Amino acid sequence: MRKKIVAGNWKMNMDLAEGIKLAGSIDKYFSEKPAEKVTVILCPPFIHLAGVHEVLKHGRVALGAQNCAAEASGAFTGEVSAWMVKSTGAEYVIIGHSERRSYYHEDDKLLNKKTLLAINSGLKVIFCCGEVLKEREDKKHFIIVKRQLEEGLFSLTSEQMDRIVIAYEPVWAIGTGLTASPEQAQEMHKYIRDLVKEKYGSDCSKKLPILYGGSCKPSNAKEIFSKPDVDGGLIGGAALKREDFVGIIEAV
Ligand code: PGA
Repeated sequence: MRKKIVAGNWKMNMDLAEGIKLAGSIDKYFSEKPAEKVTVILCPPFIHLAGVHEVLKHGRVALGAQNCAAEASGAFTGEVSAWMVKSTGAEYVIIGHSERRSYYHEDDKLLNKKTLLAINSGLKVIFCCGEVLKEREDKKHFIIVKRQLEEGLFSLTSEQMDRIVIAYEPVWAIGTGLTASPEQAQEMHKYIRDLVKEKYGSDCSKKLPILYGGSCKPSNAKEIFSKPDVDGGLIGGAALKREDFVGIIEAV
């Protein structure tokens, strides 16, 4: 059985004090809950990572970054490497979020480089894929996701794939209030799992967590997460409010 995962992507929101307050209250909430059907991950901005790590005291909530550099170290002003992320106590990093792909022009080749660096630094990678609206309307969504996975991910060995979580995030559903229907999510998640099976075999594909992202809320999470190939969610807007984030996790 795959364990469910719910990861909160805070994006560029909240100052340090607000972030620490939210993380502390989520940590406290889960410390009082019976163990662990769900892995909970918080992904604050880089600059909050070390401070947030300090308040995640109960070992029930893991920490992740939202990005990392495509280089290991050196003269890259303003960049933050995977190894630096790891040194804050983070275990995860999100790679290939659609906002990185579109606003910062990160392509499959670059994302593949970042993924390998992150894994070699000891992080686990939440690797995002997903089509824009036009691609879905043109019925190209499977082709797009296949390309993103083949070029971004499929150079990894099967051992390295053990450190991957895939997040399917249809771009038209991110921050828009639109969600994929549970059937659309299941269809794509099954497609992704089948691609992984073809490339890495069925053991690997059965173990692989595949998260859904895009306007998840407490009110729609249960139905989406109940689909057999949906192993949880990557949550944006609703991760910024304790009640909503906790509500989504409770829905699992
Ligand atoms: P959203 O964002 O939940 O606000 O749609 C999801 C994401 O971008 O990861």
